[in-house]
Amino acid sequence: MTLNNLPLAKSGKNALEVAIAAAKGAGEILLAHFGSRKQIKHKSQGNLVTEVDLLSEKFIIKLLTGEYPGCNILSEELNSSAPTIDYTWVVDPLDGTNNYVFGIPFFCVNVALVKGEDILVGVTYDPLRGELFRTESGRGAYLNDSPIQVSKESSLLAAVIGFDLGYSQERGREMLDAANRLWGQIHCVRLIGSSALGLAYVACGRISLYYHRYLFPWDIASGLLLVREAGGMVTGWQGNPASFQNKEIIASNSKLHHEFMDHLAEH
Ligand code: IPD
Ligand code: CA
Ligand code: CA
Repeated sequence: MTLNNLPLAKSGKNALEVAIAAAKGAGEILLAHFGSRKQIKHKSQGNLVTEVDLLSEKFIIKLLTGEYPGCNILSEELNSSAPTIDYTWVVDPLDGTNNYVFGIPFFCVNVALVKGEDILVGVTYDPLRGELFRTESGRGAYLNDSPIQVSKESSLLAAVIGFDLGYSQERGREMLDAANRLWGQIHCVRLIGSSALGLAYVACGRISLYYHRYLFPWDIASGLLLVREAGGMVTGWQGNPASFQNKEIIASNSKLHHEFMDHLAEH
């Protein structure tokens, strides 16, 4: 799949420009409502949705369908299970809803374009910091206008490790167990609260490795391509290359990958 095959939007923009417009517009909505009281629903234990997630999603869907009438969209709150055989937009209108609800300033919008197993375009936008992470397959990864690369750490002892717990009690406990075992053999660990920003931070070298075991395509489609285009690697828990359909991922600067996996295997 090459980017040259990508369809042009009605406005004449390319797919990356459309994804950026969608993420930035949605980011404005998140900013406008950040810190105000919200209607909150519990989807499952610990898993919240607010009216702002829905407003953001509505904006993105309107923009995407205006640009590409009839396009496939797989978006978190739509509850759709669109097959991704054809071009499909994969959208998380607000990643980090728990942070957002509790006023913790760390959340983003995620918009990716996939076809089959290929991720073609990825945009992760942090509206509070004005940080736009963007990537196209084969064309590198950028933070705003600067190319980004994964960190150079080659030892876990010097590495900042990030992870999140997700919404499965069992998987969350397994990830805490992994962190417990790593403790003392890494530089430090961070619970991020946004898997999309966790991956974007691996891509730009702020953290060296991020792991998770209970994900959805909208959490990671953009980040997988960001990390790979920034020189890193993303696998499943067994070391096989990860797809955006993976529940489990290890994303790293590639130098730490084997040490991390060996460490897991020892236990
Ligand atoms: C969640 C966040 C969180 C991760 C969860 C995700 P949401 O997304 O990325 O960090 O642990 O697995 O579902 O619900 O805030 O969009
Ligand atoms: Ca999410
Ligand atoms: Ca979300």
